[in-house]
Amino acid sequence: MRDFSGRTAFVTGGASGIGLALGRAFGAAGMKVMLADVETGALDAAVKSLRDITPDVRGIACDVADADSVARAAQATFDAFGHVHVICNNAGVAAPGGIETLSLDNWRWVIDVNLLGVLYGIRSFLPHIRAHGEGGHIVNTASMAGMSGGLGFSPYTATKFAVVGMSEGLSAELKPHGIGVSVLCPHFVRTGIASSGRNRPAHYGPSATYDPASRAGLIAAEINKCVEAGIDPADVAARVLSAIRNDELYVFTHPRMRDLVDGRFAAIAAAMDAVSERD
Ligand SMILES: NC(=O)c1ccc[n+]([C@@H]2O[C@H](COP(=O)([O-])OP(=O)(O)OC[C@H]3O[C@@H](n4cnc5c(N)ncnc54)[C@H](O)[C@@H]3O)[C@@H](O)[C@H]2O)c1
Repeated sequence: MRDFSGRTAFVTGGASGIGLALGRAFGAAGMKVMLADVETGALDAAVKSLRDITPDVRGIACDVADADSVARAAQATFDAFGHVHVICNNAGVAAPGGIETLSLDNWRWVIDVNLLGVLYGIRSFLPHIRAHGEGGHIVNTASMAGMSGGLGFSPYTATKFAVVGMSEGLSAELKPHGIGVSVLCPHFVRTGIASSGRNRPAHYGPSATYDPASRAGLIAAEINKCVEAGIDPADVAARVLSAIRNDELYVFTHPRMRDLVDGRFAAIAAAMDAVSERD
């Protein structure tokens, strides 16, 4: 999709961090923007802040872990702006814990938001994009955690690998229909992700506790520091717009992460070679 002007973008997790930066970048490119988020106070502030860029911005309260809530947000977007062209399934949460914290509540919450939330977005908008026939683009936010298991046995890693896999499959299926798919895989970005617990609904129980001196505790502390030192979300948004324009599937933001991916693929290739030698 090379032409943004006059088209419409829908962004989940649009009240903060990468989602808010995406909304700003789409607005600056002449698009109409619907920001969707579960944190309504931050959402209102985000919408107000975008009005400096474009009058065509709205906000909708939406819990991406709830299929009906996403369907209602989609309908509100069609009602407000008509045809929708760019969907960013971006809302996400992180819950710390590794083998020390096998909390089913953590796993269910992170899977519901990070994985099923992406599915619900696709399900609510894809038939509409196919029907209007003007082309479109779906951006699913994964992470470098979806390219390498560096964050250990965590629901976050599991969901981000899943989002990469489903985006690859979706891209192949939608190519003949003129609809692009990108999967965004940033490393650390300066956002509110380390305080994801602010949006944890009570029905998932309290955040799991863990010993700060455990591996999970040390990883969590390190991650918080890295997020604070992360890149500007605006740089991530600029990469996403360029990827939509050029119809790129993989969207990376941190070139030095190449080593991480190379290391994983080298181990996989070596294991494949070992099988070939045995046959
Ligand atoms: N910040 C990083 O270092 C980093 C790195 C890689 C990937 N990511 C991914 O980027 C995406 C955006 O996160 P961010 O870093 O901007 O964090 P953020 O916390 O600043 O923004 C996330 C937004 O999602 C919203 N949200 C949370 N649960 C929701 C729900 N159930 N329904 C609707 N909205 C919900 C939050 O209210 C918040 O506005 C996430 O998918 C995250 O996993 C972030």
